[in-house]
Amino acid sequence: MHAFTAVLAVFTTISRLAEGRSSLHVHSAPTFVRPYVIEHYAPAQAVALGQQIYRFPVTGASSGGAFSLISTSSPSSSELGSIPHRHQTHHENFFCLKGRFQLWAEDEARLLTVGDYGSIPRNTTHTYQILDPDTEIVGVLAPGGFEDLPFFLADSNYTSSTRTPYVPTTPSNSSSGSPPEAIITALRSLDVYAQLDYAPRTDLVNGSAPSGNGWHTTTDAVPTVNFTPYFVAKDYGEKYLNRENGYQIVQPFVTNVTGGGEFTQGSVTISRQFNATPSAYALPGHTAFEVLEGALNVRMQMETVMLITGDVAFIPANTSFEYWSDVAFTKFMYVCQGVQGLDQQLLVNAEAWGFSVFPTA
Ligand SMILES: *[C@@H]1O[C@H](CO)[C@@H](O)[C@H](O)[C@H]1NC(C)=O
Ligand SMILES: *[C@@H]1O[C@H](CO)[C@@H](O)[C@H](O)[C@H]1NC(C)=O
Ligand SMILES: *[C@@H]1O[C@H](CO)[C@@H](O)[C@H](O)[C@H]1NC(C)=O
Ligand SMILES: *[C@@H]1O[C@H](CO)[C@@H](O)[C@H](O)[C@H]1NC(C)=O
Ligand SMILES: *[C@@H]1O[C@H](CO)[C@@H](O)[C@H](O)[C@H]1NC(C)=O
Ligand SMILES: *[C@@H]1O[C@H](CO)[C@@H](O)[C@H](O)[C@H]1NC(C)=O
Repeated sequence: MHAFTAVLAVFTTISRLAEGRSSLHVHSAPTFVRPYVIEHYAPAQAVALGQQIYRFPVTGASSGGAFSLISTSSPSSSELGSIPHRHQTHHENFFCLKGRFQLWAEDEARLLTVGDYGSIPRNTTHTYQILDPDTEIVGVLAPGGFEDLPFFLADSNYTSSTRTPYVPTTPSNSSSGSPPEAIITALRSLDVYAQLDYAPRTDLVNGSAPSGNGWHTTTDAVPTVNFTPYFVAKDYGEKYLNRENGYQIVQPFVTNVTGGGEFTQGSVTISRQFNATPSAYALPGHTAFEVLEGALNVRMQMETVMLITGDVAFIPANTSFEYWSDVAFTKFMYVCQGVQGLDQQLLVNAEAWGFSVFPTA
């Protein structure tokens, strides 16, 4: 072999190893739109804000400005996770991937456990508190670019050769006072409007208020109007069964109404698809999947990758892809730009379904 080619081959091997198991795997969200897969805890681009570690599997740059997907890993805290605030240009969506946190939105409060979702539309005053030792919040923000805020506020960049979720230290007691006026002013340019007069209500029953909202006991319908905060407890939302390629159960968190036409979000539960053709699509908007349970195979650009809990796939608009499960029960979260996303494609041939599991045969 020609010496130069040999050197090149070695470099190619090293860079492939560095990037992971396929050419789709990356360590950080790309700075331009391309198909990619990023493993849970992999993002090399992570920052520390106090004891919270922020990771950025999808950014404004990697999604062409459509949305950001930002995860926050943290131990429990006796303090609020942020000062109470609102956003004027970002719709923020909280999802509990691990652990437990309290979410307040105006005069509503809910305790979010694994699989629960909360919608914080623009101009909704909100705050949160992390309650369990290994909690992970998945935040979806539309439009993209909200990562500028944690980058601005970061105490330090976070790296870990073990990819541990956060630094296992006992935190020194941090002051919970409000930030200096100069910071509060600067935050406005990052779409954070501090609401220092807001007092999160403390009259919670089982983590929830006001009373009688049926949290984790009755169905949570997604509103048919925009701009009100709402919450969907895991498996208490609306469910639709699609029987086209094995079974798929769609559970919407954000619809073409509540997403204001910008995006939709929800979960799909998928059965093992033996003897079935994988679902194949090329969607008109950018799409992200995050696996919540089981293992999801995604095939795009002639490569197949298997994603497990916390792994994210980003599929640009008009990119042909297939997905399927080789294990009995796989569940993933979708975020779709626009109103013709995967959810709409599946809903066209779906029936209302009263269960969070698929039929026995
Ligand atoms: C949010 O509040 C700002 C300032 O009051 C206002 O200009 C804007 O129209 C509001 N946005 C929505 C969606 O209500
Ligand atoms: C994190 O790293 C970036 C890029 O190297 C640098 O610009 C930034 O100042 C660092 N942030 C902190 C808080 O150290
Ligand atoms: C932190 O605060 C707790 C409760 O107020 C106190 O018991 C503890 O000694 C403090 N720890 C430090 C390191 O100051
Ligand atoms: C609070 O939780 C307890 C234990 O699960 C339950 O018995 C009780 O009914 C709940 N209260 C309300 C108001 O939901
Ligand atoms: C919104 O979604 C519903 C339910 O899938 C569908 O019937 C309706 O046509 C959609 N509307 C638009 C504007 O996409
Ligand atoms: C996707 O393809 C359609 C039809 O060819 C085109 O109109 C649209 O601009 C494409 N979208 C992107 C983001 O490339």
